[in-house]
Amino acid sequence: MRLPDTPGFFTCNACTLCNNPYDLRSPVAGDGPVPADIMFIGQTPGKVEQRTMKPFQGPAGHQLDMVIEECGLTRDQINITNVVKQRPDDGGKDRKPSYAEMAACTQWLAIEIATVQPKVIVCFGETAQQLAFPGLKPHQCQGLLRVKGGIIWLGTYHPAWILYKRDPALRQYLVDTVHKANTLAASSITPAPGALELMPGVTYTTELSVSTTTST
Ligand code: URA
Repeated sequence: MRLPDTPGFFTCNACTLCNNPYDLRSPVAGDGPVPADIMFIGQTPGKVEQRTMKPFQGPAGHQLDMVIEECGLTRDQINITNVVKQRPDDGGKDRKPSYAEMAACTQWLAIEIATVQPKVIVCFGETAQQLAFPGLKPHQCQGLLRVKGGIIWLGTYHPAWILYKRDPALRQYLVDTVHKANTLAASSITPAPGALELMPGVTYTTELSVSTTTST
């Protein structure tokens, strides 16, 4: 099941929460199994993702595919999404999403998380890491683990950063984090009931409830 098929996600296509001038009618939702024990969260779709309407399809996606394979996993075991659902455009160039865009889009992310019911969420890069470790700088988040909303959150490098830096040590860090996520997902942790505050001061109506479904 893809998330646009879920009732809560339909209204995402008509979202006007962030007042952006670009066309908001093609949000790229998460992709992967529902429920799923492991969820990956990136920053925003890029041009390739906006065209294919799936997260992590471009060069960063290929890097991620290799990491997933190295960890003995396959994409179809993991639900993959982004903090912001629409590519932020800056005169044809990609740009980082603003705080307001993140705050608007995380209400859709809250729906995704409540639907996917992950045990472990891996946050790739600064934007996603702000959800788990607000206020910390990217380098301070590497290897951090936090339990929030009954979910284990891990911070690590973004696959695009790995491609840019070409540093095997950083890449190994990403591989180790995905490995760790897989090990932790085998634990008996269950998402806790109650509201999940994804950003400080931003309230979501979606609640995580204890899953009665069988995890993948
Ligand atoms: N592609 C995505 O879907 N997300 C990112 O953060 C980067 C590339």
